[in-house]
Amino acid sequence: MDHLTVVSHPLVQHKLTLMRDVDTPTAVFRQLLREISQLIAYEVTRELPMTTRRIDTPLQPMDAPVLEGRKLALVSILRAGNGLLDGILELIPSARVGFVGLYRDEETLQPVQYYCKLPENLSERLVIAVDPMLATGNSSAAAIDLIKAQGATDIRFLCLLAAPEGIARMKEAHPDVPIVTAAVDERLNEKGYIVPGLGDAGDRMFGTK
Ligand code: URA
Repeated sequence: MDHLTVVSHPLVQHKLTLMRDVDTPTAVFRQLLREISQLIAYEVTRELPMTTRRIDTPLQPMDAPVLEGRKLALVSILRAGNGLLDGILELIPSARVGFVGLYRDEETLQPVQYYCKLPENLSERLVIAVDPMLATGNSSAAAIDLIKAQGATDIRFLCLLAAPEGIARMKEAHPDVPIVTAAVDERLNEKGYIVPGLGDAGDRMFGTK
C-alpha cells in the first residue's frame, strides 16, 4: 500500500461534510462516524489475502473465494478511536481488539500514556490502528511504538481526517505504516486542532463539553 491513501469516494466525502458541520447533533455525528468507518475499512482491507473454499451452490460445486483467515487485530486509540471501532467490528467480527489510552498534554501537545491492553500474537496479525484525527501525529506515533513493541510488523493506520503535520510525523517515525484517511486538511492551528477540521472528535461523538 502507498504511505497515504485518501478515500475520495462520494459517500465518504458527503458524510464527512455532514460531520464537519457544527450543527450536526451528537447522535447523528456518531452514526455518520460508524458508517464512514465501514467505508474506510473497505479500503484498508482491500489487499487482504484470499484463498478458495470448495462449496456447493444449489446448482454445482465451485471453488469460491474466501479470506485466507489471516488474523486481524484492531487497536483503538482512546477515546475517540472507539467511534471507529464498532462499525469496523461489524464488518470483521472475528478481529481481536486492543486499546491504547493516550491523552494529549495541552501545553506540550505530547502524548501521555494511561492505558495499554493489546491482543496476543501481534506478530502474526495485520493490525489496524484507529483514531479519527491524525493531528500532530505525536499520539499516533506513540501508539504505533507500543503496538510494535508487542511484535507487530504489519500495521495500518485508519483515520478520518489528517493534517499535513501529522502525516509528516508518521512518515518520519513509521514509514512502514500506511495511512488511510477520508481527507487531508490544511493545517493545525496554534492549539493543535486540525483546520478546517470538525472540532474535538471525542467531544462531538460523546457530547462532552
Ligand atoms: N483531536 C481532535 O479531536 N480534533 C482535532 O482537530 C485535533 C485532535
